[in-house]
Amino acid sequence: MDKKIGLASETIPKEHLDRLSEWIKTYPRLTQGEKVVEFESLFAKYIEVNDSTFINSGSSANLLMATTNLLFKGLRNKKVGIPALSWSTTVSPFILLGYEPHLLDADPINLGINIDSLYKLIKEEDIATLILVHVLGHDSSIEKVLDICQEFDIRLLEDTCQSLGSTISGKCLGSFGLASTFSFYFYH
Ligand SMILES: Cc1ncc(COP(=O)(O)O)c(C=O)c1O
Repeated sequence: MDKKIGLASETIPKEHLDRLSEWIKTYPRLTQGEKVVEFESLFAKYIEVNDSTFINSGSSANLLMATTNLLFKGLRNKKVGIPALSWSTTVSPFILLGYEPHLLDADPINLGINIDSLYKLIKEEDIATLILVHVLGHDSSIEKVLDICQEFDIRLLEDTCQSLGSTISGKCLGSFGLASTFSFYFYH
């Protein structure tokens, strides 16, 4: 069998494209207009988080999240645990902002972080922040990681750009940490 399974396919039906093009012809405000505000509110409700802010991309959202984490009071240091298996713009905001990044090994089953390597890092470095990347809809052992973060007072951030709509125990990925990012890029 040489059946190919593509990573992505068209996901926007023609009916939606037609409605979008009709709406655009009304010359609406495209940036932070009323539809965006309405969608932010619906999106937050869907993910079950307090609030959501829409910007141009998941990469920019990652930069905003890393910046906000610095500005949010009480961060005891700039050491951050980052999955070795991540996206370039998961890591680059932390480098840009002068954090001290520490890479974590990958879990071969769920492609998230290896829990033993997290414990090892916590023992060696008093990381104050951990970012997870939920790869291709997998959950990165989020429930276990959440317990560890609570035990060691670590702020948890979630890069959920590849996993919008994925759930674990009925809860959306991206609703566990202090903040999370999402993306509507085609292959996500
Ligand atoms: C894990 C992860 N984070 C962030 C991004 C960036 O999202 P965007 O393409 O919307 O900038 C991607 C991929 O594009 C990604 O795979």
